[in-house]
Amino acid sequence: MRVLICQDAETAALRTADQLCDQVQARPDCVLGLATGETMEPVYALLRTRIATRQLNLLQVTTFNLDEYVGLPKGHPESYRATMQRLLFDSAGLPEKQIHLPDGDAPDLVAAAANYEAAIRAAGGIDLQLLGIGENGHIGFNEPTSSLGSRTRVKTLTQSTRKANARFFSNNGEAPLFAITMGIATVLDARCCILLATGPKKAAAIAAAIEGPVSAVCPASALQLHPAATIILDPEAATELKLQSYYKTVHPSGGDALF
Ligand code: GLP
Repeated sequence: MRVLICQDAETAALRTADQLCDQVQARPDCVLGLATGETMEPVYALLRTRIATRQLNLLQVTTFNLDEYVGLPKGHPESYRATMQRLLFDSAGLPEKQIHLPDGDAPDLVAAAANYEAAIRAAGGIDLQLLGIGENGHIGFNEPTSSLGSRTRVKTLTQSTRKANARFFSNNGEAPLFAITMGIATVLDARCCILLATGPKKAAAIAAAIEGPVSAVCPASALQLHPAATIILDPEAATELKLQSYYKTVHPSGGDALF
């Protein structure tokens, strides 16, 4: 696990965007796993700027988002589909057939989940998976006690997640109760995972994910099992890490390892 503690949130977003751009440069037709959440917004802003200035071309990539709310009609402004369209897909000019999100509006959600897993396999698997983290340690919408062997399926959201996400909904307080999300095993199948966390609200979850036991109670701790996981942090999200000074020695200023 690479733990990069950057000098501030802006640098952490920059480092995340750089890693994604490096992946696309190495393989322009790569498969990207994408995440939503406020933490990711500066990353997508950087990508939009790079697209506009022709430093980045996403036209050949295939994308799979981690999750989607259940029951929001297609085109709902707070759906993750509409959010991603606004934040990235419109600027990237990505053809529709290369964009994938779980179908939270499907009449048969079990079939939709199985189809999503099949689509990821058919695309050759995910090369790079971006992740945020919930205050309770969730990744995607894998809430605490999600099986570490889980695959895409419907999950019931915890009250704390619904409360945290209520700010995105105009009726403030009515985030949906259900979501369809890649499972933890689905995430671990990605060839490389990058988790970005910024701000003091994430400090406890980050400490549990990196230095706690691998446990379904903190779904992000499953990344300890991944052979190529990078955790990118700002100083606030890193405050509860006991081995902070070690991570800073290995990756000075959150940069490349000395060895
Ligand atoms: C949601 C998403 C997660 C995201 C989390 C944190 O629950 N499903 O993928 O990591 O929010 O979001 P934020 O970055 O807004 O704190």
